[in-house]
Amino acid sequence: MSIVNAKEMLLKATEEKYSVGAFNITNIIQMEAVVEAAVEKGAPLIVQVSVTPSKAIGPKVISSVYRVLAESAPIPICLHLDHCPEVALCKECADAGYTNIMIDASKQVFEENVKQTKDVCDYAHQLGDITVEGELGTVSGVEDQVKVAEDDAALCDPNKAEQFVEVTGVDILAPAIGTAHGIYKTKNPKLDFDRLKVIFDLFNKDQAKVPLVIHGGTGLQPDVVKKLVALGGCKFNVSTDLKHTLLDATYEYICEHRDEYDPGKVDKYVKAAIRNKINYWIDLLGCAGKA
Ligand code: 13P
Repeated sequence: MSIVNAKEMLLKATEEKYSVGAFNITNIIQMEAVVEAAVEKGAPLIVQVSVTPSKAIGPKVISSVYRVLAESAPIPICLHLDHCPEVALCKECADAGYTNIMIDASKQVFEENVKQTKDVCDYAHQLGDITVEGELGTVSGVEDQVKVAEDDAALCDPNKAEQFVEVTGVDILAPAIGTAHGIYKTKNPKLDFDRLKVIFDLFNKDQAKVPLVIHGGTGLQPDVVKKLVALGGCKFNVSTDLKHTLLDATYEYICEHRDEYDPGKVDKYVKAAIRNKINYWIDLLGCAGKA
């Protein structure tokens, strides 16, 4: 029950109108903190790892730690590879034991996006209990290695979404609707709520079939987050907020304890800060007690 792919937990979230927090981590301390917070809240959880930390730590190490933590946690936890533009790495992470893979070929032309997404889907599905997320349209901003200028960002075309899902066999769809990675330049970014509704109805009107992901969670106002969840965003990605929390807490502790040389104390302080941040998101997304 603890080690799961993303699809089943997200179908449940779609039906019950809450969203599962999908939190990007860059090290093992962060992974532990995220899991501890979700366990305290009784929330389902998606632990996300981007390409750079996946390569730096190694997919097998990440997957092994995830498995140890998840096996003793009384909540469903998925390990997700985030925004991977390399088909070979998608396959390596699937082999290593990640349970949800995001192939991000959204910068390619539609036909190439379809081809690469289908390739990863075919591979992951024949391996077993692994699901795949694909992106249609492009989310602007910077997430790990993937940089998309605002001018190049394109929103998801609902007419193409159906074909994309049907031909690729992708399990979960990230439709670009105007959210962006990183820090928003304005307090009220222009989001296309109507487009999200159209895409939601396309796949999930009578029965939840294709869960929808909201990227670029950092900096969205609480009322906007709630609206996106109500419109069917059942996986909510948060990365920059957690990187800031990790580094701010580290600086804070070190500045206040210049004469102390005890890494364990820094870790404890940082973990508490991350747990607080995750608690905020879990409450906002409405997934507490949904494990
Ligand atoms: P933020 O960094 O804006 O929170 O975006 C996270 C994300 O969408 C990861 O895929």
